[in-house]
Amino acid sequence: MSVERADLDWSNLPFQYVKTDKNIRYYYKNNSWSAPEVNEDDTLSISIAAPALHYGQQGFEGLKAFETKDGRVVCFRPDENAKRMNRTNRRIGMPEVPEDLFISAVETAIRENRRFVPPYGTGASLYLRPLMIGVGPKVGLGPADEYIFLIFATPVGPYYKGGFKPVEAVIVEGFDRAAPHGVGDCKVGGNYAAGLPGSNFVKEQGCAVGLYLDSQHNKYVDEFSTSNFIGIKKSSYITPQSPSILPSITNKSLATIATDMGMDVEQRPVEIDEVEDFDEVGAVGTAAVITPVYSIKYGDRTFAFGTKESAGPVLTKLYKTLTKIQTGEIEDLHRWLLEIN
Ligand code: COI
Repeated sequence: MSVERADLDWSNLPFQYVKTDKNIRYYYKNNSWSAPEVNEDDTLSISIAAPALHYGQQGFEGLKAFETKDGRVVCFRPDENAKRMNRTNRRIGMPEVPEDLFISAVETAIRENRRFVPPYGTGASLYLRPLMIGVGPKVGLGPADEYIFLIFATPVGPYYKGGFKPVEAVIVEGFDRAAPHGVGDCKVGGNYAAGLPGSNFVKEQGCAVGLYLDSQHNKYVDEFSTSNFIGIKKSSYITPQSPSILPSITNKSLATIATDMGMDVEQRPVEIDEVEDFDEVGAVGTAAVITPVYSIKYGDRTFAFGTKESAGPVLTKLYKTLTKIQTGEIEDLHRWLLEIN
């Protein structure tokens, strides 16, 4: 069956917002959720006293939908995003979004924007951005009593130019991303805003991505500004354990694939000095997928991994396996895909 498609250059999509047909909204008031509202307008009208605006009472998610080789549309692990969003919500005093409501919103957002799901083989995907904001007006510090949960969809290409192509990273100096018992392990906008001055530092250093060390000791690897850190050392898949890292669903999935490949998965504190001995390093997340890192600048030292031209063999195998599962080219052994009908 042929699909009517939006007129886009699918193979060259940047990671940028494109207005799509519909977004899905739910309103939380008097302790209960409204029915879904399917909206064409991509703007919001909220109180100027909304706690989301003043006190940062907001959280978000990121997940992707794909067209498979046989023409189906699937979404990757939306149940995990629902759980992670509720973890965030609990941490910052927002009500939970029932998991079935979250999944139904994901399904509707994809169905209503079917013509924006990139064709199979283009490497692009439909990126979904669930967002929850505290909107009931309040000027004293306290949780809002009204909320909006919404999902918009936008078609995207690779986050880092070139896609699965090695980039250079630098350890961010002078700015911390998150404190150990703060909200570094939650998906709140403030973590990303805190990283914006660090992004200027990264650009000044001529690098594509910044890597943060833990803010307490400035010694252990936390995560990249956009994504989690993974390192490959012989047959081990190593990823940091830290109270201020976002639990990445991509990282969790890759760790499972690594186990399936017979590798040892180690989640433990990783001292930055140990990274020098890693064979391969990657930045992993929904948007970044796996972005191989060929070097990390650390003060006046540079740690190098493989070549600038192409990723190492293990990251390549992990990348191919993950992306082939997502596009239905190999069996979805772990039942990660939700088919959208
Ligand atoms: C994602 O990977 O989905 C994120 O939200 C990270 C963001 C910097 C694009």
